[in-house]
Amino acid sequence: ATEKSAVFIIFGGSGDLAHRKLYPAMYSLYKTGVLKDHFAVIGTARRPWSDDYYRSTVIDSLKDFDNDEKAMEDFSKHFFYQSHDVNDSDHYIALKKLASKLDDQFDTGHNRVYYMAIAPRFFGTVAEHINSEGLKTDGYNRLVIEKPFGRSYDSALELNNSLTKTFSESEIYRMDHYLGKYMVQQLTQIRLKNKQFEKSLNKKYISNIQVTLSESLGVEDRGGYYETAGVLRDMVQNHIMQIIGAVAMDEPAKLDSESIHEVKRDVFDSLQDLTPEEVDQNFVRGQYDEDITGSKKAYRDEDNVDPKSNIETFVAGKILLDSERWENVPFYVRSGKRMPAKSSRIDIVYNDSATELGLNPNTTVTFLIEPENGSSILVNGIDYQESNQSLIKFPEKPNYFDHEREAYESLMIDILDGNKIHFTLWDELQNAWKYVDVIRNQWDNETPDFPNYMSNTMGPDAASELLERDGNSWTWDD
Ligand code: BG6
Repeated sequence: ATEKSAVFIIFGGSGDLAHRKLYPAMYSLYKTGVLKDHFAVIGTARRPWSDDYYRSTVIDSLKDFDNDEKAMEDFSKHFFYQSHDVNDSDHYIALKKLASKLDDQFDTGHNRVYYMAIAPRFFGTVAEHINSEGLKTDGYNRLVIEKPFGRSYDSALELNNSLTKTFSESEIYRMDHYLGKYMVQQLTQIRLKNKQFEKSLNKKYISNIQVTLSESLGVEDRGGYYETAGVLRDMVQNHIMQIIGAVAMDEPAKLDSESIHEVKRDVFDSLQDLTPEEVDQNFVRGQYDEDITGSKKAYRDEDNVDPKSNIETFVAGKILLDSERWENVPFYVRSGKRMPAKSSRIDIVYNDSATELGLNPNTTVTFLIEPENGSSILVNGIDYQESNQSLIKFPEKPNYFDHEREAYESLMIDILDGNKIHFTLWDELQNAWKYVDVIRNQWDNETPDFPNYMSNTMGPDAASELLERDGNSWTWDD
């Protein structure tokens, strides 16, 4: 691997995201030599921690992944802690001094990655101070943002404006970790390399496309956040929309960021406007109740959840695109907590014309995205390499990874490479928000009859009826 150099400043360096995702991902890069001698990490947060204590928490976060104590110890020596109040200018000056010192000490080429692993309400303040206190350098300056990126179009716009005052769009990396997942990336690769498959992806051959992101877990300890979000904002606005972008986009001229975002933008531009009546007809919401044995809690009984909460933990919907290619082809989407299994999948359901391609009518091609270690492509439920009836030839699984890269690992490499293919651009985001806002507003007008599905089930019956009305059915049904 080519070694990369940078100073990372992680705002929220003592937090859960940093320890659960960022440090393990960086450690993996360390083990493969992408990060080696020329990098340093400054973790900031309010609490006063010593470097030593911080390093011990970093090492703790790696123990589930590795037992090479020497490597973990060496890795942790690149970590430094700075207690920091996001509103205090002096603290940014201290941060600047430390960063320059580490620049010299580790010879990092003045490259900076500013990582916002903090609550979004601080993004603007931090970005402004980075600028006004002169933290930006003559190397690259990349700002990484985690979701939630707004709660509506208006709040997302406000947030975006607060960032673009000080960082250009090309410096901003908006994370959608689904775009870092192996199978989501494979989908684009396969489309580009396999012309026959590519040519089949349109209204002539496709009956409907289904995107399911189901989880078996409930809201766990994230009730506080979830009460402000719901599955529509948590999963549909970002992950599901981005997957639709990847399936529905036209063939990009090249496999570079500009070409890919150009065709993706067209997909988001083509989202068919919804009327309030269409929201009622085409979108189903649900909230989980206990399971059949009563051993799992209802959503309303979870910690930090309003006992009368009307927040949805399940959604199913039918999305249409106003484009020649996808005219009248439903994109059925579904996501929920406390469903029978953790499964993220794209089911591409062919119609009768599939015979012209040498396929059986109604063939279904499935991309299994999650669980990650089970990711594969199925044709009518059989691994594609074994399903000889298929004329669609997928390339062999590439063997250049000794393991499938975890999403954060792969996205971290992209950040260091300055590759924005797998990040979301503002113009995509805004159309996704406008679409989701119509649904949210309509739902806010009517009180739902919650809870309406039992834990461990496929959601309310209306989710199946939605497809039955069109003469279709969910490919994955427990
Ligand atoms: C996150 C959501 O973006 O994605 C979570 O906030 C959800 O609620 C998670 O659990 C699912 O991601 P994954 O990678 O586990 O499928």
